[in-house]
Amino acid sequence: MTTTKTLADVAALSLDAVRTLERYGLDYCCGGKRPFDEACLSKGLTPDSVMAEIEKTRGDGATDKDWQTAPLDKLVGHIVSTHHEYLKLELPALANRLNKVHTVHGGRDPEMLGSMVEVFGGLRAEMELHMHKEEVMLFPFIEQYGRAEAQGQRMPPVPFGSIANPIGVMEREHAEAGDALGQIRALTNNYELPSYACTTVRTLYAGLQALEADLHVHIHLENNILFPRAIALEG
Ligand SMILES: [Fe+2]
Ligand SMILES: [Fe+2]
Repeated sequence: MTTTKTLADVAALSLDAVRTLERYGLDYCCGGKRPFDEACLSKGLTPDSVMAEIEKTRGDGATDKDWQTAPLDKLVGHIVSTHHEYLKLELPALANRLNKVHTVHGGRDPEMLGSMVEVFGGLRAEMELHMHKEEVMLFPFIEQYGRAEAQGQRMPPVPFGSIANPIGVMEREHAEAGDALGQIRALTNNYELPSYACTTVRTLYAGLQALEADLHVHIHLENNILFPRAIALEG
């Protein structure tokens, strides 16, 4: 036995802990009072190794790098491995949590929860397509620019006239994502927990706030650093 904690205690440690529990199908919500060790064993999992995984994901602070001067392909790699990967995991997980809340509490707050499902669904679809466009169309050219710069070569031609064209599209989509986050913030009354808030509602709200914070950093790195650097190289 590694701990006397319940699943709900472990879920409260961090959002990464919640993600790990969800990945293993450990129900921290309705079954949250169950001891962590017992729940792991019943699923054939070793409590120590699940706990070690949870501990490992805690406090993984991003290192401070100067993205204004780092090679462009390093910056692109950082954006994809940190922020895109985060969204690819978190958007479906949050959609599941929101659907669960909508199913369980929809009758108590039909208008707000109905709007949340609609706005979040739109944000998720937009962001998934947006990241695909960046990874498949735009970022490979920015990486080529970075390599050409490092080798003192001319910038290779791009198929879309100027790199500023797809960048303009990406920036408009960022603004739309920002609007959706603002709507979610307004719908939840700045993430004030409703009277019916159970653990799933709490983790949903915490997850949405974390998503907002992460997306802000993500969009900042693209709009304010990556895109201007690519446009300057082309010039
Ligand atoms: Fe991105
Ligand atoms: Fe983007």
